[in-house]
Amino acid sequence: MKILSIFGTRPEAIKMAPVVKNLALETEIESLVCTTGQHRSMLRQVLDIFELETDFDLDLMAPNQTLNGLSSRIFAALDPLLEQVKPDRVLVHGDTTTAMASAVAAFHRGIPVAHVEAGLRTGNLKQPWPEEMNRRMVDIVSDLLFAPTEGSKQNLCKENLAGKIYVTGNTVIDALMASSSRISLDEELRSKLDAQFPFLQSGRKMLLVTGHRRENFGPGFQNICTALAELSARADIDIVYPVHLNPNVQQPVSAALSHLPNVHLIAPLDYLSFVRLMQRAHVILTDSGGVQEEAPSLGKPVLVMRDVTERPEAVLAGTVELVGTEVERIVAAVHKLYDDDLAWRAISQRHNPYGDGYASQRIVAALLNRTVAEFAAEPEAPPQVAIDGQEDFVLI
Ligand code: UD1
Ligand code: UDP
Repeated sequence: MKILSIFGTRPEAIKMAPVVKNLALETEIESLVCTTGQHRSMLRQVLDIFELETDFDLDLMAPNQTLNGLSSRIFAALDPLLEQVKPDRVLVHGDTTTAMASAVAAFHRGIPVAHVEAGLRTGNLKQPWPEEMNRRMVDIVSDLLFAPTEGSKQNLCKENLAGKIYVTGNTVIDALMASSSRISLDEELRSKLDAQFPFLQSGRKMLLVTGHRRENFGPGFQNICTALAELSARADIDIVYPVHLNPNVQQPVSAALSHLPNVHLIAPLDYLSFVRLMQRAHVILTDSGGVQEEAPSLGKPVLVMRDVTERPEAVLAGTVELVGTEVERIVAAVHKLYDDDLAWRAISQRHNPYGDGYASQRIVAALLNRTVAEFAAEPEAPPQVAIDGQEDFVLI
């Protein structure tokens, strides 16, 4: 069976890496990888860390690209490729423009599509935008739907879709567990990763920030920057923000924050370095989807700068709190976690509703029509023992 995996952004590559590695182990499968290059340099970082080879690199990214410009370039470049390669199946991930355009292009050619990370929904087409639409489009044309959780399966069932659904867990937990234990077990690697952050002060607790959502461009980002500037007045905080390369993010963030001594604006990090920063963080403030899934597994409280989330499981479990993009709400939520140790301990109880590290194996089994023991979330975990100071995580 010839399977063509197509992805183009940083999060897709992180979450597809374990799937591609598992596909390569199967003699019945000819696994081919095509990257659209939607995130040219951030994608390269992921391919290097996971040692992923690509068979086709479409290299389609344009500076400050529009959604329609990118979509049209993907359709134009993929059509002849699908004709040439003639895959038995196309595999796409998640909610990006790459996933949507690739799935529709395959559908137009009558090629079956499998969707990894199917069924996430907010029910609101404007948040996340345009990802909610992308996800629904991919699910409509897919005949295999790999839902990460029971909740995402239920979303798909309500829509009466044609595809067969499997609950697999999220492949990001496969990637995270492998990377996190690699770091924890290798002292030399840990020192090398830490050497990138000499500015972190041992007496300060780190607030790790990521933010790049399109619906936050403009006023949302202004608010986020104002909140971070206000928080930087605390003497016990180091704010670290690896800034997404999108110019709509780079410009407001560096204009508002680059002069503040305890705000560290750094380039996007490779995955291992970012996992290390998550391990060392006291609190994570983000609008990212993937980080919302990863941080609860590391026992880190996450404040999410969105009004709604397509990942409600950790909100229900109490490790994630939605704080929107209003200045006062963000500032108050961070202060609370820094000032109220009991609140911090309560929210940082490790609970991982998103996966068990075997999602990719289940996906490959389903692709080969083998029996699949579906993922069931673990019951509520006991409270973690917090160790004060910088190294305030417990090794998995
Ligand atoms: C995209 C995805 C979003 C996903 C996010 C993950 C769409 C519509 N959006 O949004 O679903 O959550 O990626 O990161 O698919 N750039 C670079 N180098 C890079 C990457 C980006 O210079 O490696 C700059 C370019 O100017 C590019 C711009 O960022 O034009 C925007 O990239 P794009 O992929 O269109 O949007 P994202 O905001 O990253
Ligand atoms: N990430 C990374 N380097 C960084 C910031 C994030 O490797 O500097 C990882 C993070 O661990 C997560 C993924 O990128 O797995 C999330 O990507 P992003 O926030 O761009 O997209 P989203 O998850 O919102 O689609």
